[in-house]
Amino acid sequence: MRKLFYSVLMLVAWGCGSNHILPELSLQTEWKFNTGDDPAWASPDFNDSAWKSLPVDRIWESAGFDPYDGYAWYRLRVVIPGSLRDKASLSDSLLIYLGKINNFDHTYLNGQLIGINGTNAPPEQASDTTFIHAPTNYWDKPRPYTLAVNDPRIRWDEENLIAVRVFDQGGQGGMHSGGQFIRMTRLTDYLKLDNNHSPYRFEGKELSKTVTLMNRSTAYTLDGEFEISAIDKLTGKQLFQREEMVTLKPGELRDFDFRLAQLDQSAIITYSYEVSSTSDEIAITDETPYITTPLPADEPRINGARVTAARPGKPFLFTVPATGLRPMVFEAAGLPEGLHLDPNTGIISGTVAQSGDYTVALKASNARGSSIAELKIVIGNRICLTPPMGWNSWNCWGLAVDEQKVIASARTYRDKGLMNHGWTYVNIDDGWEIHQDSMPKRDKQGNIHTNYKFPDMKRLGDSIHALGLKFGIYSSPGPLTCGGYTASYQHEEQDARSFAAWGVDYLKYDWCSYGNIAKDTSLAEHKKPYFVMRDALAKADRDIVYSLCQYGMAKVWQWGDEVGGNLWRTTGDITDTWESLKTIGFSQVENQPYAKPGNWNDPDMLIVGWVGWGPSLHPTRLTPDEQYTHISLWSLLAAPLLIGCDLERLDEFTLNLLTNDEVIAVNQDPLGVQAKQVIVDGDIQVWVKLLEDGGHAFGVFNLGDKTVDYTLEFQKAGIGQGRELRDLWRQKSLGTPGSSITLAIPSHGVMMMKIK
Ligand code: GAL
Repeated sequence: MRKLFYSVLMLVAWGCGSNHILPELSLQTEWKFNTGDDPAWASPDFNDSAWKSLPVDRIWESAGFDPYDGYAWYRLRVVIPGSLRDKASLSDSLLIYLGKINNFDHTYLNGQLIGINGTNAPPEQASDTTFIHAPTNYWDKPRPYTLAVNDPRIRWDEENLIAVRVFDQGGQGGMHSGGQFIRMTRLTDYLKLDNNHSPYRFEGKELSKTVTLMNRSTAYTLDGEFEISAIDKLTGKQLFQREEMVTLKPGELRDFDFRLAQLDQSAIITYSYEVSSTSDEIAITDETPYITTPLPADEPRINGARVTAARPGKPFLFTVPATGLRPMVFEAAGLPEGLHLDPNTGIISGTVAQSGDYTVALKASNARGSSIAELKIVIGNRICLTPPMGWNSWNCWGLAVDEQKVIASARTYRDKGLMNHGWTYVNIDDGWEIHQDSMPKRDKQGNIHTNYKFPDMKRLGDSIHALGLKFGIYSSPGPLTCGGYTASYQHEEQDARSFAAWGVDYLKYDWCSYGNIAKDTSLAEHKKPYFVMRDALAKADRDIVYSLCQYGMAKVWQWGDEVGGNLWRTTGDITDTWESLKTIGFSQVENQPYAKPGNWNDPDMLIVGWVGWGPSLHPTRLTPDEQYTHISLWSLLAAPLLIGCDLERLDEFTLNLLTNDEVIAVNQDPLGVQAKQVIVDGDIQVWVKLLEDGGHAFGVFNLGDKTVDYTLEFQKAGIGQGRELRDLWRQKSLGTPGSSITLAIPSHGVMMMKIK
């Protein structure tokens, strides 16, 4: 039963499902809140009147408890009216839905345990010991708890006390989103309408898809009407509609296939099921993918960053990214002494002793022709002069990452041609170290051990480098990482030495358990551990890009450069929902002045493709327009671009999205300026990025739920007019408009352009 509610309620929580009629009691109010831990706080008799009141629609850091890690309790008194039960179409179970909790919860009703991390606790279960050993991605897991209608833990028509014991082992904490409510369960709760177990398939000029209906009840037969309909997203014109009566026996599962023509924008597909006997209805929608980026030509074309840097005497690695038919031959004139180019792979490596700016003429040739480009190699103290582009294991594999998965990603860079567009880093996130429950964590000298999933880090680093790619790793300044693995506290120099010996080029350094070490919440305490690792990295015999991860606390953008950071996270963790993308992406305003070559604001990793934060993945829940918004905004923001999906499962749409060289060039522009939010006009926002050539790249974004015909006045946006305008996604000219242009922007979508 738990699984059933998990899926159905997620639909409600994501705002893409609807379920009509039937009363429910909202719990979205201020709850009583206290930090610490005491079993007596589960009891209805405990007097919490002196506790603070806290909202449950945001993490506790955003409600005044910043930073706070560890235990805390939420309590709410609520009368559960018998009318809920009496008016319900189904009268077997009560659902207490608590939204999402960061990270772990024990939930009590009237002093008795009813749920643990999203799983119902049966009446006889009084306690639990597995509680804090669940995966960290439980912060994104809905908590639906159900009780039989006659469960003695419910006090019908009387006051009930819901108490939630939360444990946050690092980073953000608390009951934070998804809505909280109480209602009786419904027949439609037993229906799993799964439209996202696989993405749309591209078949010639058509798209096809399979959706699955499943009856998760062991007792009820579902009998009702299933409808699939499609409308053109921009015009609203109906494209097709299909209805059929569908009866599903308990446990029965049925697939439904449909196909439709590919369009040059999305179609909105609605799936609905109405139960005949009760008229309970569930409806969800998705949107079809559409391709914009033209396929790369057979002729060579050199793409990616036009500037790269290394410190004197440190290993240098740069692979010339070029699209076009293979075999291809590379040449480089004007390489500084100490560097060597492999003409067959385009890999430039070596070391340069002498500081200076070197201008190198690159050439790539194949049977169809040749392409030239200039590359500036800067040998000096600053590195990471354009935002890092790469892959990181977290948003897909979470703590389930292993060596094979990392190698597979690196190979896919080459096999699917991602390298030809500038994708470079292959970064392991949390989960490579020894877990807090295992021994030994370090050797006798204190050198950090890897766990069984990473038998030989040096071998892994070597094979990544052999492909012309760079290697990234993860640690925390505290004793433990956020996932509960060994971290670098009091071993910083040793760990930096290990990383360098393994060939690491990039370190993500995540605050996590340092919250328990910091003496107070002063600015000095926020900076302290980052100075320590900066100094340790400076002693290493390699350049290691330094990525600070502390969720934007204490306005890190103001001091990230001072502690040696090349990039710093500006917010909490992202997830693959529009709410998360919108909140994070469109809030990057205050930090704008602090981005520059060598220092980047990091609004977190990309959430396109197959993601999952653990062993089982799903196609991103973002619509295609939301994904265009994501990549456009991150490119304009000069944000690090770290793909967070399983690269082996890159579908045609996602590959197309990640390989648009004109869009990537905006992100990699050598001037290194972050876009400014210049217009907020209702649901429309315009973000403009100044480019090195004096032109502007800009995005007109529609954050609303309807297509908008928007007239952009260039002067109002601070953009020059009377010059040629280019549609960057479609890589085509939009002519030379006068003082304004009217654009149809789909809901949650964007037009990304450049003006010379
Ligand atoms: C979080 C961090 C994530 C990921 C995770 C690993 O704090 O924000 O990006 O690194 O820890 O446990």
